[in-house]
Amino acid sequence: MAINYFPENQLFVLDAAECTYAFMVHPRYGRLVHLYHGAHLATDILKLFNYDTTPRSQSTIPPGGNPQDGSLSNLPQEFSSFGCGDFRLPSAQVRTPDGFNAVDAKYVSHRIFRGKVELPGLPASFATEAEAETLEVTLRDDVIKVEFVLSYSVFEKLPVIARSARALNRGETPVTVERLSSLTLDYRSGTKLDLVSFPGGWTRERRPLRERVNPGVREFASNRGLSSHQANPFFILCDPDATETHGRAWGQMLVYSGNFKAEVERDQYDMTHVQFGLNSERFSWKLEPGESFHSPEALTAFSASGFETLSHTFHDFLRRHLIRQTHVHLHRPVVVNNWEATKFAFDENKIVEFARRAADLGMDMLVLDDGWFGHRDESNSSLGDWFVYQAKLPSGIAKLAERVRELGVDFGLWFEPEMISPDSELYRAHPDWCLHIPGRPATLGRNQLVLDMGRREVIDCIFDQMSSLIAAAKINYIKWDANRQFTEVGSAVLPADRQGEAAHRFMLGTYELLQRLLERFPDLFIEGCAAGGGRFDAGMLYYTPQIWTSDDTDAVERLYIQYGTSFGYPPSAMSCHVSAVPNCHVGRVTPLETRGDVAMMGAFGYELDPAKFGEAERSEVRRQIAVARADEHLMLEGDLYRLGSPLDDNISGWELVAKDKREFIVTAVRIMSRPNPSHDWLLLRGLDADTMYRDLDSGESFSGAFLMNAGLYFPIVKADFTSFRRRFRAESGK
Ligand code: DGJ
Repeated sequence: MAINYFPENQLFVLDAAECTYAFMVHPRYGRLVHLYHGAHLATDILKLFNYDTTPRSQSTIPPGGNPQDGSLSNLPQEFSSFGCGDFRLPSAQVRTPDGFNAVDAKYVSHRIFRGKVELPGLPASFATEAEAETLEVTLRDDVIKVEFVLSYSVFEKLPVIARSARALNRGETPVTVERLSSLTLDYRSGTKLDLVSFPGGWTRERRPLRERVNPGVREFASNRGLSSHQANPFFILCDPDATETHGRAWGQMLVYSGNFKAEVERDQYDMTHVQFGLNSERFSWKLEPGESFHSPEALTAFSASGFETLSHTFHDFLRRHLIRQTHVHLHRPVVVNNWEATKFAFDENKIVEFARRAADLGMDMLVLDDGWFGHRDESNSSLGDWFVYQAKLPSGIAKLAERVRELGVDFGLWFEPEMISPDSELYRAHPDWCLHIPGRPATLGRNQLVLDMGRREVIDCIFDQMSSLIAAAKINYIKWDANRQFTEVGSAVLPADRQGEAAHRFMLGTYELLQRLLERFPDLFIEGCAAGGGRFDAGMLYYTPQIWTSDDTDAVERLYIQYGTSFGYPPSAMSCHVSAVPNCHVGRVTPLETRGDVAMMGAFGYELDPAKFGEAERSEVRRQIAVARADEHLMLEGDLYRLGSPLDDNISGWELVAKDKREFIVTAVRIMSRPNPSHDWLLLRGLDADTMYRDLDSGESFSGAFLMNAGLYFPIVKADFTSFRRRFRAESGK
């Protein structure tokens, strides 16, 4: 790990584990020219500059420049100007009082220091001085008197660069930031690339979509207030022949949970230009003289050997440098959540009975979901009234929690802190505390409105309500839900020229509330959720080490959802529960074993009524819990290998391999049974070829070489949706 500056050429070379990232100050134009991002490169980087300055007809040349110096519209750049000769998507737009919003910033200075800094009010990666080094480059647009500080942090052990940008008003009049990318990337002219993104919808989140990067702009974004079910702030650019184990792949992940936009533009010279950050649509941020605005952080990672290594890099990075260390490595309770079983129809006795059955099966924690507060019997009331629904739970939450604990299971509680029901005491007392546009009728989503989390009194009120309850009931686990997307995004307290700030202020307020709760209750474990997986992103993972992956708990649907999610996010970040059959979303009946095996890919639990099990199912559940506990360390810390893709194959499998390769588990699901079928052998990966591994169930031994080259046989079973899970431990070898 090193950041080197070569003053003779004003060249910056960032060595981040096995990869190199380089750029320089253009000797005549003063703009930052991107040179390289890829496998480690020690020499010759400057030669790249000469190719990029090839004179082109019909190109614009900056004032004082010459055609042989290149054109801003063709040069790969670190920070693209707007309206001044680069016709591709800009890195920033800033509106000045005279109405113009052009930006053209030149290098001023830089500083390099050990470690990395926090971003005020925003989640961001962290590292010690030994683990990271940071470069900050200051650019200035002298016309509008705005400085832009681009930050790049490299890490000792992982080929990740954490990037962010800051705009600082050095002038004497206010300016308005209308766009500020967290990262700009340029892939050299002629580089053919595929784009892999993760679109979806409610109950079918993050299904990988691979497409060629063609001329023009391909964008995906969220303007829904949350990062959304529909798009995810993570994507990959890769060689067209890249696979799990082959080819170059560059992953981009935004550490943010609100509106975002990713834009991938292929220009006339087949250069691929990327802008990634806050969604500029409906966004603006006014800066008074001396004020600055920080973009969220973006992570860019490189793999020279396909998606598998790229995923390992992101998984390790999130586990070491983003998710709070006091929580990420912790034992995760086997949870039973009552939502799918009861919806709103429960009372104290039913919950206590739930807990008794859960304890008998060996589950660790009962999470009481929606419907315990205000007077909530349906989704049409009480959000914002975080006090117990006496008619349902007459003894109160603290007493209920105590009764549950006495039975031998811990107690967790559901909240939806950012929302408000029109039928609530909170709304009646403060009708202007929700996001709204005066005079415009409010659009409801799930009968509810969105709180204006940018307002201090709003987050104070929710903090007070939540913290008194958490303290009184000694709760150390909460599920944090958010069930609607934003409309009429306006704030009663912002002046007209700051209304464009409302959505980002909402996110900053939400992060602040999370942070305050975690400071007040350092042992509190928060599970994220947003109508299933509608806010599954690195921003939330900073506070909530695991997130409810999807409301769809069908084992087959989960193969797709967990497969897609795993490209960027580690297994320990995915909450995965076994639910009842027929599945409530798709009506499919899958074996309990398969549901268990699929849910054991991530943080394991149940989403059903434990009283409904027969004797055979009870013993299977006890077995599952024992296995999930025994192998939990592999789910928390191991390397994930995807074996096949449910998008292409009838068999979808994965391995979780210990870092020292001394043990692993392999799971596979054969989706459909086929007549007169061929034999299926799973070719494993990531093992030590010379080690003998023993199958802990059958006692049979295999060498790593055999399992990786000949494979592991997946027996034929005449039934749909069958699964197979084997646990192996090294018995010899290195
Ligand atoms: C959506 C979540 O994804 C579900 O698990 C459940 O908590 C409901 N909300 C409750 O309203």
